[in-house]
Amino acid sequence: MKIEHGQIYIEDVPVSDLAHLYGTPTYVYEENRIRENFRRALNAFRKYYPDFHFFYAIKCNNNLAIANILRQEGAGIDAASVNEILLAKQLGLGGENVMFSGNFLSDEDIRQGLESGVIFNLDDISLLPRVLQKGLPELLCFRVNPGYGKSEVGDFVTNAGPKAKFGIHPDQVMDAFRMAKDAGIRRFGVHMMPGSCICDADYFRFITELLMDIIGKVAQTLHIDIDFIDLGGGLGIPYHHEDKPLDIDEAARLVAETFKAKIAQYGLKPPRLGMEPARYFVGDAGWLIGTVHAIKDSYTRIVGTDISMNTLARPAMYGAYHHIYVNGREDEPRKPVGLCGQVCENTDYWVKERPLPERISVGDLVVVENAGAYGYGMSYPYNGRLRPAEVLVNGKEHWLIRDREVFEDMIRNVHVPPHLQA
Ligand code: LLP
Repeated sequence: MKIEHGQIYIEDVPVSDLAHLYGTPTYVYEENRIRENFRRALNAFRKYYPDFHFFYAIKCNNNLAIANILRQEGAGIDAASVNEILLAKQLGLGGENVMFSGNFLSDEDIRQGLESGVIFNLDDISLLPRVLQKGLPELLCFRVNPGYGKSEVGDFVTNAGPKAKFGIHPDQVMDAFRMAKDAGIRRFGVHMMPGSCICDADYFRFITELLMDIIGKVAQTLHIDIDFIDLGGGLGIPYHHEDKPLDIDEAARLVAETFKAKIAQYGLKPPRLGMEPARYFVGDAGWLIGTVHAIKDSYTRIVGTDISMNTLARPAMYGAYHHIYVNGREDEPRKPVGLCGQVCENTDYWVKERPLPERISVGDLVVVENAGAYGYGMSYPYNGRLRPAEVLVNGKEHWLIRDREVFEDMIRNVHVPPHLQA
């Protein structure tokens, strides 16, 4: 994104052109930024540990155009459900390029997961007998909850530690591996999630050390080799402009240093190292464009746009912060105002007391920053306000990569029994 003569451009395309062509609200992604983010991270980790690879956690942004960019760059896929395994298949990815990290799986999930032949990552020891009943995977991975977690938006998205629903308790990890070994499994993986949106490089060292101490003892005691260790996602991006970005080189250096030291300490055969971030690749490459439709001066001034809580759920869900730009007015004097969407819920009043350009007017375009991760993927239709369009930009070129939902989508899967028909 750049601002020239007051006009906002996504790569080299003015947002006014994008809004005119595709309407609003629309998610827009910068292809080059996604590639840069991926390469920066991959180069950093490979520099310190060459046998390193990334899976892209496709839940974050499941548009196949976006996922294909990451596939081209060399990423595998982290799938949270069978449907996400099918998405990976659409990308031509399967086998050990796909990690199935579901949780609280149904028997049908287990059956389809095993059948798909991707890496099965078990979130709980109780799943093991159910998996073994259905088949003996050649390779099995366990998701360990290392006992700590951290997140940018409080407990809302913390996915490890005592308050999280994820992963195997450290005290159960030995039993899980023993059961799997006794059942005849010979190849093992280990997985964890360190947390969500972490910009502190040293935290990745700390949590890697914690995991490696759990796993080192297991591998030593049970005399097993660990094929690979996946340190999860959680590589953060700064949402507030005053926050410091993650020093990815430092994070990679600290992780690799700790990893190698622990391999040596426990005498392990060096495993492949992996991570499965998502936000770091696509978060700051995505923008959400909306239009100001009405301005109300009541108890306070509220600017109403077509970006509602269902278009971008993070602020209403977690109190998450997103920076907002107003096209053509970034140099103008500011005044605190509120900003809301068009949905009949007060959590849709998702910005309070934000210094925005004082002369913001009906027809202006607002551009929400860091909307590439958990934006469209968490959007939902509500109040008859349907999901937005998605557009990909590369330089001066742009492509519609997902249609805006229309009324027909709203009634597509609904069935009215004959006696109720109009
Ligand atoms: N791997 C697993 C198993 C995950 O559950 C997640 C995210 C990731 C990888 C990718 O994490 P990342 O690198 O993006 O932090 N909706 C929340 C974030 C929830 C994260 C869910 N799991 C948000 O909008 O902040």
